[in-house]
Amino acid sequence: MTLPITAIGLLDPDQVKSVIGAAMLAPSTHNTQPWRFRSTPAGLELHADPDRALPVADADQRELLLSCGAALFNLRTAINALGAHPATTLLPRRDDPTLLALVRPFAARRPDPRLVHLADAIPRRHTNRTPFGTDTIPAPMVAELRHAAEVEQAWLPRLDAHQLEGLRELVHKSHQVQVSDPAFVAEWRYWTARAPGSRDGVPEYAAGAMPSDNGGWVLRDFGARRRGRPDESEPLVVVIGSFDDTRIDRIRAGQAMQRVLLTATAAGLDASFISQPVEVPAVRRELRALLGGGLWPQIVLRLGRGAPVPWTPRRSLADVLLEPERTSA
Ligand SMILES: Cc1cc2nc3c(=O)[nH]c(=O)nc-3n(C[C@H](O)[C@H](O)[C@H](O)COP(=O)(O)O)c2cc1C
Repeated sequence: MTLPITAIGLLDPDQVKSVIGAAMLAPSTHNTQPWRFRSTPAGLELHADPDRALPVADADQRELLLSCGAALFNLRTAINALGAHPATTLLPRRDDPTLLALVRPFAARRPDPRLVHLADAIPRRHTNRTPFGTDTIPAPMVAELRHAAEVEQAWLPRLDAHQLEGLRELVHKSHQVQVSDPAFVAEWRYWTARAPGSRDGVPEYAAGAMPSDNGGWVLRDFGARRRGRPDESEPLVVVIGSFDDTRIDRIRAGQAMQRVLLTATAAGLDASFISQPVEVPAVRRELRALLGGGLWPQIVLRLGRGAPVPWTPRRSLADVLLEPERTSA
């Protein structure tokens, strides 16, 4: 089968394939992979795939935009590593709301070594739900993670002990709201009980341990049979926020999230998500107030050093490519 891939600017078709491949390794809620790509002479288009939305966990498709933002950051980073500048326009066409970004790799640029380092980390980043070890993350590393969020126009605020305790309670509260909602559970089952060999969804082998009831951080239960999170020391828990909550802010927050995750991976850290408190709207409002009311919380991450974890599956390139648009003669 011939894939609808053309050369774009400085990239030949094989390079276009490789940068889309890097984008597809981004994380996405329940591994829905809600993105599609179109290769056109004007640039590489990133589209949202609304058929892969989560109507219960993500009713306003905020996390869908975060996931696509993460794919966009990978795309930009991989293009940079190939020596081209990824000139990017967000939401370029009002009449096409699924078109999230147009990336034009037309100008040659000496690769930015910091981004090359992050590009190398793309295939090594996996969501790690195993218990994290006891060593604390040094302050300069936390500053680097904060900087990674800021470069992408999002914020990773310092949380004091009171805010962390409040966040932990909000995680418990939102987790309870979700697991007692039959519609949430049905949606979550659909994406976690996929047939063997499925190319999307979260396989049981990627689960960590069952949520604990011992006052620790409650991670989403992906069906692991192990009970409790044995002796996990306090992980670094961070919130990434934006000043506004429009679609553009959410795409930017997704890029910031991925830059933070890749910065962590490149430094030998592991990470997982604790998104229950940003998925339940009333709890998200409480979290916003807890952070002082100035930031919209977009995602909560847990960072530390865990045991190695395997890959989760991805769809094939052919599954995510859109055909060229027909132009009227
Ligand atoms: C916006 C967003 C929210 C997520 N929320 C959670 C979560 O609450 N709990 C969790 O364990 N994983 C969460 N994930 C991780 C996905 O399940 C994971 O990215 C997906 O299964 C693909 O696996 P990978 O990250 O190892 O490539 C989230 C990912 C994204 C992008």
